[in-house]
Amino acid sequence: MIHSSWEHYSGRILHNNTCSKKLKKRVAEYITHFQAFEQIGTPSIPYISAWRHQDLNIWYEFSGKRLQKILGCQAQDVAHAFRDSIVDHYIYKKPANHQTVVKEVLSQAQLVNLRNILRGSAAHNSTTEAVYKLASNGKVFWLKDQAKIEVFPEDGIFLSLGTLVDVSKEMRAEEELKRVKEELKRHRDHLEDLVRDRTRKLWRSQLEVVSRLARAAVYRDQKTGSHITRMSRYCAILGEATGITQKANALLYHASPMHDVGKLGISDRILLKPGKLNSQEFELMKTHCHIGAELLSGHNSDLLKVAQAIAFTHHEKWDGSGYPRGLGAKEIPLAGRIAAICDVFDALTTARPYKNAWPIEHATAELKRQKGQHFDPELVDVFIEKLPVIKEVYLAH
Ligand SMILES: [Fe+2]
Ligand SMILES: [Fe+2]
Repeated sequence: MIHSSWEHYSGRILHNNTCSKKLKKRVAEYITHFQAFEQIGTPSIPYISAWRHQDLNIWYEFSGKRLQKILGCQAQDVAHAFRDSIVDHYIYKKPANHQTVVKEVLSQAQLVNLRNILRGSAAHNSTTEAVYKLASNGKVFWLKDQAKIEVFPEDGIFLSLGTLVDVSKEMRAEEELKRVKEELKRHRDHLEDLVRDRTRKLWRSQLEVVSRLARAAVYRDQKTGSHITRMSRYCAILGEATGITQKANALLYHASPMHDVGKLGISDRILLKPGKLNSQEFELMKTHCHIGAELLSGHNSDLLKVAQAIAFTHHEKWDGSGYPRGLGAKEIPLAGRIAAICDVFDALTTARPYKNAWPIEHATAELKRQKGQHFDPELVDVFIEKLPVIKEVYLAH
């Protein structure tokens, strides 16, 4: 059955007396067919590979001369050379529930196991398609493998009748595209890191500037900055308890120390006057809300916007009797209503040149008394609920 022109035949089936006639006939037919195919000079490389049931070792019954040339080996060594040259392996398959073809990229380590699965599924489905990335003789190239699998149960042998097509050009373009995409992603990640870093730095420098500003204002009439430290902590406790977002609460915490920056524009004569202010002096004192709002205006940072709202509204009262605009109830921004309670509570519970510190219980009673008049009634309730935590801050500073 072996044809005289098959001098390079290095397979096992045609020489094997135990193989069935049917199998031998099939192999011989295909060798004849593929040899003719090769002589036409088509770019695809035909091959016939074979393996036994439950045996990982594949061998080639026939392989196109170009494959031997690419791999730099003799016909009988094609199986080994092919396996040793594989650096990557892609399988194209169409899963039952998908409309699209998916590509799997596998490491060499996964290959042996996978080849078995592939053979199993190919035996079932009759066809398979894969792309191999090979490195041989210092060159990298890709071969696309399309094959038809035939099973010979009587012999326990599988035949893979297929062609290999050099798809290096297409695959190189695909790899380049992948590389460019990865490069772009790295670049984007780097930029995002930079932006995050700059934003953090900007935020820190903003905090630094505003806290100095707040302290400068407070040192005019108080010896320490402990009032704004406590007051801003009370604000954060109350803010958190009202359920505002963490970000909004952080803004409230950092903006509230600036509630009295407008006092920088009030003269010493009024600000440091030991006695009670007369009505004209009090009118001038009230302007610190406008001055503060003015100082903090014209910037689109969230921090300064909240700070401005607080500076402008921390002396407004729930019943509309406050200043500078006489706003009432929820016309007063939440940050202003929170700041009002915390500012007064701290003023009451600490000593000032003109008064002693009130005990916490008296100050709390005063908040309750002013519920719905000076203060937002709901916020007073929340403040009282949070009194244990408020006390901790009070005692710590
Ligand atoms: Fe004030
Ligand atoms: Fe204050």
